[in-house]
Amino acid sequence: MNEHARPLTLSERADELEEEMMHDLGARIASKSTLFYLGDGKVQVDTGEALLAANPGKHMLMGADPRLPPMPDKPTLIDFFKARFATTAHLLQSATHALKGGQPEKVVLACLLHDIGVASFIRCDHGYWGAQMIEPYVDEEVAWAVRMHQALRFFPDPSVGYEYPQMYVKLFGADYRPEPYIVAEYERARNHKWYMTARLITVNDIYSFDPNATVNLDDFVDIVGRNFKQPKEGLGFDNSPSAHMWRTLMWPTRFL
Ligand SMILES: [Fe+2]
Ligand SMILES: [Fe+2]
Repeated sequence: MNEHARPLTLSERADELEEEMMHDLGARIASKSTLFYLGDGKVQVDTGEALLAANPGKHMLMGADPRLPPMPDKPTLIDFFKARFATTAHLLQSATHALKGGQPEKVVLACLLHDIGVASFIRCDHGYWGAQMIEPYVDEEVAWAVRMHQALRFFPDPSVGYEYPQMYVKLFGADYRPEPYIVAEYERARNHKWYMTARLITVNDIYSFDPNATVNLDDFVDIVGRNFKQPKEGLGFDNSPSAHMWRTLMWPTRFL
């Protein structure tokens, strides 16, 4: 019996997988942005020269990364939900909760999109990133609410039964206090005419995923169709102020 026929160890399998991924990239080199390295605690970026030297005969990837799910030529919001958002359960649960609670479509959409910053992109200041991504395509009130929910999450509102989340005590510790910029944002939001729309996101912001709850993106396709102005050129190719953000999600390892 061939002595190499034994099962591979985990690290051998990881190496093999890495090798396969490299092959899938063909003659292209996928590059990591500074942000990817910062996430690993390194202030670093690879120069083009260094990458070429380490990968003789190859050129930089300047488009789709074959390791990621393919995107259509004219991607829709739904395509991003399916192929780029790392998690959608929380978004779908929040939107389902709002829908069942009889909220208007504007609020349901805001709930469906409120954490796309985290789901697709980045955690820090996720409300601001998410709002910026959707701003050209939704009612101004929806984008505003998505931006503001980030600050409102930290402040109770007994008038609608919203309390400081116990989950935050677990996540951040009992002594965490929101930074002054968050407090200031909350105070601005509190007196705004659309305060309740942002507040309703927090009211429907479901933290514990119930494995028995049936949530389905299909339930929201019509609401998205009526309330999200899908550009005919595809998200990323419509020259909107946030088109570059959608393109970056599509091609996160493009060299430039
Ligand atoms: Fe959030
Ligand atoms: Fe949330």
